[in-house]
Amino acid sequence: MDLKEKIRVIEDFPKVGISFKDITTILDDGEAFKYTIDSLIDLVKDEKIDIVVGPEARGFLLGAPIAYALGIGFIPVRKPGKLPGDTLRYEYALEYGNDALEIHKDAIKPGQRVLIVDDLLATGGTIASVAKLVEQLGGEVVAMNFVVELTGLKGRDKLEGYKVNSLVQYEF
Ligand code: PRP
Ligand code: MG
Repeated sequence: MDLKEKIRVIEDFPKVGISFKDITTILDDGEAFKYTIDSLIDLVKDEKIDIVVGPEARGFLLGAPIAYALGIGFIPVRKPGKLPGDTLRYEYALEYGNDALEIHKDAIKPGQRVLIVDDLLATGGTIASVAKLVEQLGGEVVAMNFVVELTGLKGRDKLEGYKVNSLVQYEF
């Protein structure tokens, strides 16, 4: 399947100059959704993974079905004030704007092997923050899997040392 055909590109969203890669057109297509989840799993088929971590909101849409298919747990990383238990917080810069992310402190056990999943790698700020949170809790990041990578934003450079996988690439 050519996954690029299933991704809807919307220009000037959420602001002028941004070419938005919309994955809702994968999610609403059962065949494309299954193909995407299966492909993201295939990228790490030789790795031992204990748990999947994904950031709000689009990381949930991909991370949770991957965890379910692997028969392992899923840990949500959320924007501030959403998680009810004791949390760790990390502040980060985004492709458009600034934000912070939180994780439950007891979500990861030291030494657990973690697969991080999100829909899109842009500057890498989001996923670098997720990795920091995972590592602060003693987790080991096995790989970072994305549906889309915007290669021109050099997120991969920010993530040096990690195994970074993407199914589809655009320059911007
Ligand atoms: C988008 C996207 C990635 C992140 C990529 O999420 O889903 O998580 O930006 O950008 P980066 O590599 O420059 O950090 P967004 O924060 O817009 O929120 P959402 O997933 O809740 O829609
Ligand atoms: Mg996101």
